Amino acid sequence: MIISIYGAGYVGLVSAVCFAKLGHQVTCCDIDESKIASLSRGECHFYEEGINSLLSEQLSERRLVLTSDIQHAITNSSIHFIATGTPDAGNGEADLTQVFNVALKIALLAQGDDNLIVIKSTVPVGTGDEIENKIQQSLKKSNQCKNVMVASNPEFLREGRAIADFLHPDRIIIGGEPLALLPLKHLYQPLTMREIPLVEMNRTSAELTKYAANTMLASRISFINHISQIAEKVDANIDDIYNALSLDARIGSHFLKAGIGYGGSCFPKDIKALTHTVKKLNLDTSFFESIDKINHQQKDWAIAKLRYHFNNNLNNLKIGLWGLAFKPGTDDIREASSIRIINSLLKEKAKIFIYDPRALNNVKRAFPDNEQLEYCFSPEEIFSNEIDALVIATEWEVFKNFSLESLAFLLNKAPIFDGRNCYDLNNIKSSNLSYYYSVGRPTIKNI
Ligand code: UGA
Repeated sequence: MIISIYGAGYVGLVSAVCFAKLGHQVTCCDIDESKIASLSRGECHFYEEGINSLLSEQLSERRLVLTSDIQHAITNSSIHFIATGTPDAGNGEADLTQVFNVALKIALLAQGDDNLIVIKSTVPVGTGDEIENKIQQSLKKSNQCKNVMVASNPEFLREGRAIADFLHPDRIIIGGEPLALLPLKHLYQPLTMREIPLVEMNRTSAELTKYAANTMLASRISFINHISQIAEKVDANIDDIYNALSLDARIGSHFLKAGIGYGGSCFPKDIKALTHTVKKLNLDTSFFESIDKINHQQKDWAIAKLRYHFNNNLNNLKIGLWGLAFKPGTDDIREASSIRIINSLLKEKAKIFIYDPRALNNVKRAFPDNEQLEYCFSPEEIFSNEIDALVIATEWEVFKNFSLESLAFLLNKAPIFDGRNCYDLNNIKSSNLSYYYSVGRPTIKNI
């Protein structure tokens, strides 16, 4: 089938290369000409496992065309996926300007009599209705008579695993009128043929499903983090609690790892946007607000422990920070806990030595010319600065596999504040590390 995708960001580009991989003819359009130029050379502007090779493969097989000419993209297809950004408008509400602009352009410039707009961007419940109304008004104004249907097809792609998630999803959600869903069923046939469930529903249900999924996952993280706060006060161990909970088949083990909070471009924004919708509907927002509130508290875990250990004085201390990305497998630092830690340490006038396998450049852009920040290019380099403490903010494999013997030697009695529970407590107990603080687990002092 022939489709166009608008927005070559994370969701748009992954969808474009994957739909092409499934055998469809895809045009991917973005207004940013420099982005399109580098993508056309097979170079992706963000780090994602496997994307560069898939991009080059589909470009050379000519199933994928990249363009910044929106008119060309619109006139070349009758199925249009919108995957443009929906940033926070500043008040928790999603800014839908880009989505509306593209939808109206498609409606006005589309050539055929039957056209389908599919919303892939995460948009508040009711946005499909709003788009449909705007399109009707604008077609009327310009005396055009054509059929433009609007469907919802939310994405469930995790950064770092997005290609696998697209090509091997747990389920595909499509929402809209039956006639609008027909082409989508054909499009996803290569996946549904493999028994992957395709769930059909009305448009608002599909929009709400996306928020429900992300909120459910975020609520599990905030739940276990809240339990970890209690565990720290009563000398309990969150590892034991986690093991016991996960053995209950009704609870399971996913998204139940305690840590210094969730980040990324989705959970924080989506929980705020859903809270906004709930407020507008005059319903109780307290459940959603507490998910966000606990996450905020958790992001301050490392700084609170550091203050406790160093008697509230971090002035001039040299703090090493391992991990900057909001999770392993990505270079994304949006809403990352590391950024909160850096900002707090900057305020406390500490000197910070940072390392991350992927995200250093993004942090450099976020903190240009900051003299308190020093960039290191290997996990070991941090220790050549005689640091007073090490904080771990992302559970990259390279940190998890670091020899505890070497770590104890390199730290020379300085404490570790492990925000991602990277190490087994029994191994820590039998190591030469002096102080080891972790989330929801007893502090180990080997002195
Ligand atoms: C999330 C969802 O998992 C995707 O299904 C969804 O499509 C995407 O948002 C989106 O809306 O676009 P992503 O933001 O890539 O994907 O990240 P996740 O892998 O879900 O992790 C989110 C955060 O939760 C990370 O900061 C991670 O460290 C944290 N986390 C995760 C925990 O603290 N504990 C856990 O047990 C699991």
